[in-house]
Amino acid sequence: MNNCIAIAIDGPAGAGKSTVAKLVAENLSFLYIDTGAMYRAITYAAIKEDVPLENGQKLRDLLDSISIKLISEEKGTKVLINGEDVTTDIRTNEVNQNVSLVSSHELIRIEMVERQRVLAESGQVVLDGRDIGTHVLPKAEVKVFLTASVEERAKRRYEEQLKKGIETDFEQLKQDIARRDELDSTRAIAPLKKAVDAIELDTTTLTIEQVVAKIIELVKERVS
Ligand code: DC
Repeated sequence: MNNCIAIAIDGPAGAGKSTVAKLVAENLSFLYIDTGAMYRAITYAAIKEDVPLENGQKLRDLLDSISIKLISEEKGTKVLINGEDVTTDIRTNEVNQNVSLVSSHELIRIEMVERQRVLAESGQVVLDGRDIGTHVLPKAEVKVFLTASVEERAKRRYEEQLKKGIETDFEQLKQDIARRDELDSTRAIAPLKKAVDAIELDTTTLTIEQVVAKIIELVKERVS
């Protein structure tokens, strides 16, 4: 295989992107970059520091003043803000409900996209997000757009939470996911959208293993 290869995995919340991207990366010995975790980290920091979430400039000043580090680990991506482990803090309902607003600001996206491109230059990478194939890495060798019904995505989130011992309201989860889809796909800058040259995979009735196998097959086809 070539030296620099990028796999872009985009799609709505709960479509299984991060699980699939991480397994694809592991299987191919690529670096996994969870771009959603970067937007979650700035959202968490802003809430903690009481920065108004509708103010792009203040959010950008905060982003410029902190260090966000992603460390790829077997269990997933470890996230550090100024050296402090915030891996679980960035997955709370409060962050879920505000991350679409924070990530809609141009000043935030410009900087995040720049950081993601620098990370991608490190070699063989899998990035998951909303705008990787359309905007961050339009020349990615392989682009996949993962989807699944809202019902199925809410079911997966519900079970994920249950495993962590958290009982969630299923209808509320469904509403949150639908709201996030709406916000992410209608925002003015780099909205969630399938790239014209991306392969769409509807994962509603597929297992994680089947999705991973399909993507690896695609990579081998495209990059041999
Ligand atoms: O993948 P995730 O659910 O962790 O992403 C959290 C939010 O971050 C998502 O609602 C939209 C935003 N996001 C984005 O705008 N662009 C990306 N490349 C990744 C995530």
